[in-house]
Amino acid sequence: MTDGKTQLTGLIGWPVEHSFSPAMHNSAFDALGLNWYYVPLPVRPGQVAAAVKGLVALGFRGANVTVPHKQAVMPHLDEITDTARAIGAVNTIVVERGRLIGHNTDGSGFIAALRDEGFEPSGKHALVLGAGGAARAITYSLAKTECAVTIHNRTADRAKELAQHLESSGMGALVAWVQPASRLSDLDLGQFDLLVNATSVGMWPHTDVSPWPGTLSVPSGWTVYDLVFNPAETLLLAQARATGAAAISGLGMLVRQGSIAFEMWTSKPPPVDLMRSACEQALSGHQKNLTKAG
Ligand code: ATR
Repeated sequence: MTDGKTQLTGLIGWPVEHSFSPAMHNSAFDALGLNWYYVPLPVRPGQVAAAVKGLVALGFRGANVTVPHKQAVMPHLDEITDTARAIGAVNTIVVERGRLIGHNTDGSGFIAALRDEGFEPSGKHALVLGAGGAARAITYSLAKTECAVTIHNRTADRAKELAQHLESSGMGALVAWVQPASRLSDLDLGQFDLLVNATSVGMWPHTDVSPWPGTLSVPSGWTVYDLVFNPAETLLLAQARATGAAAISGLGMLVRQGSIAFEMWTSKPPPVDLMRSACEQALSGHQKNLTKAG
């Protein structure tokens, strides 16, 4: 139920109809008895400035921002945190006394999700696949915890650019990128503890592909984190489990980036387990719908 006192938050993106965030946040508001509501806000490219200004005009308390607007919102905000600026993307806006503050909770959400699974990145070495927006947040946050990072990307120039960007943030000693000709099988895999898939490979509906070569065993001592959360069990995670490596789905990061945003908006401790259940339900609902459709 909403009424004249309902506090509004939402998700700015294009498209937004498949997002699990409304289910996650609205069940958390309900559980805490908060008269708040989270609404999907489909914003066409070209309408970002008007939409962001509209948050203040409409009395929103904040919003999440997703693809493809995480960079585009930045010039329209009053303030951007150092972390969001270093990552180069905003995924959470907080409205404070009519001012728009841009944060990034993707990286901190990822680190929290890793720690939830008992993996402490500090002092470890991660191999990160991908050099897009997701990889920027992941690599920055890993390096911030003093985890060494090696970046491998299909387009090597983007890996190089990302490594150079991190270097300019003072993290050069921790970051390396893989030379254009290198294949994963050429790397000394023994140096790594953590593999992160920050590419979109394996994501529904293209679930029969993996960013890891089928011909190469995943070392059994590794922890493998797949940012893809739909499907819950990707081919990459199956490859990891097959050799006894620890395999973690991206749902935890979705939940943690959301729970950090929730706390920023409401100043209440987020009901993390409940938010996780809401996402799991939304995911299984999605899979049932697919089964029906198929
Ligand atoms: P996001 O913001 O979700 O990270 P993105 O910026 O478009 O999205 O980045 C997608 C990442 O997945 C990139 O690293 C991309 O590699 P390229 O830089 O070479 O494009 C990677 N990616 C997407 N499809 C891929 C594929 N089929 N094989 C390997 N990498 C792929």
